[in-house]
Amino acid sequence: MKKWSASRAPAGRVAYVNGRYLPHGSAGVHIEDRALQLGDGIYEVFNIRNGQPLDEEGHLDRLERSLRELGMAMPMARGALKLVTREMIARNRMANGFIYLQVTRGAVKRDHVPPPGGPRPTLIMTMRAQDMAGLAQRLEQGIAVSTQPDIRWGRCDIKTVQLLPNLLAKQAAKQAGAFEAWLVDKEGYVTEGSSTNAWIVDGTGTVITRDLSNAILPGVTRRIMMDAMAEAQITVVERKFTVAEAKAAQEAFISSATGAAVPVVAIDGKMIGNGAPGALTRRIRDLYAARSVRKNA
Ligand code: PDD
Repeated sequence: MKKWSASRAPAGRVAYVNGRYLPHGSAGVHIEDRALQLGDGIYEVFNIRNGQPLDEEGHLDRLERSLRELGMAMPMARGALKLVTREMIARNRMANGFIYLQVTRGAVKRDHVPPPGGPRPTLIMTMRAQDMAGLAQRLEQGIAVSTQPDIRWGRCDIKTVQLLPNLLAKQAAKQAGAFEAWLVDKEGYVTEGSSTNAWIVDGTGTVITRDLSNAILPGVTRRIMMDAMAEAQITVVERKFTVAEAKAAQEAFISSATGAAVPVVAIDGKMIGNGAPGALTRRIRDLYAARSVRKNA
């Protein structure tokens, strides 16, 4: 079996664990950490562009909300978290990439109910480079998605580290030759992707995406895209859509911090539109990029 070791870690990578900056390959948390033992933790992923975090306030707002929903407080003040993020970017000498941030309820003897007051929360951050060539290829050629049953729990609006149903769906999609899984609820409606929000464009040019509820994650990229579309007077309707409707769509795309408006050109092997990335998808991506950069300035 291959072992992860410091010597295999990419040179120069630095991780943050509970107040310390450590070599990525040898950084670790306690074996009784509740995220490891019980999945009792939440996370965020955000994009770093030209050395600056994108959509940072949106991700920190969602982090705070997820923690609150689990009865936890922010592990440190927002300003301090931003400083750690900037220190990570500097120490990793990485202008473009991703920050992965995880907060867990902490390390304590395994018990379903944490002790009163709880242990000290664990805060970790890691950083990795983005595969720019892979993303460019997906944007140029579009991706295929495969529909899979949504077998997740009733609070998909919380960004917890409990991702097993998402992982199984994505794996099944990969086996079916697709890049992403679109999860389908018991009534036959698409909820979202395994790690992305799902969008379609109908024959009249109306953009449709599932309305926010406990059934989907409120994507930060989704929010900014919606604001950008409103400004550009593109009609967006937040409602459920079926798999059949998606297959008959003019265009389709996915969004996440790892790629805004990535074109979907096939669903379960059925070609979408003319099988090439759509013009509106492209425009929405450009609008998102302009707005995101403007908000960051
Ligand atoms: N995933 N839906 C799900 C289930 C997600 O996991 C994500 C993000 C999104 C999009 O959210 P945002 O636009 O804020 O990135 C929607 C991250 C990228 C991940 O798990 O790696």
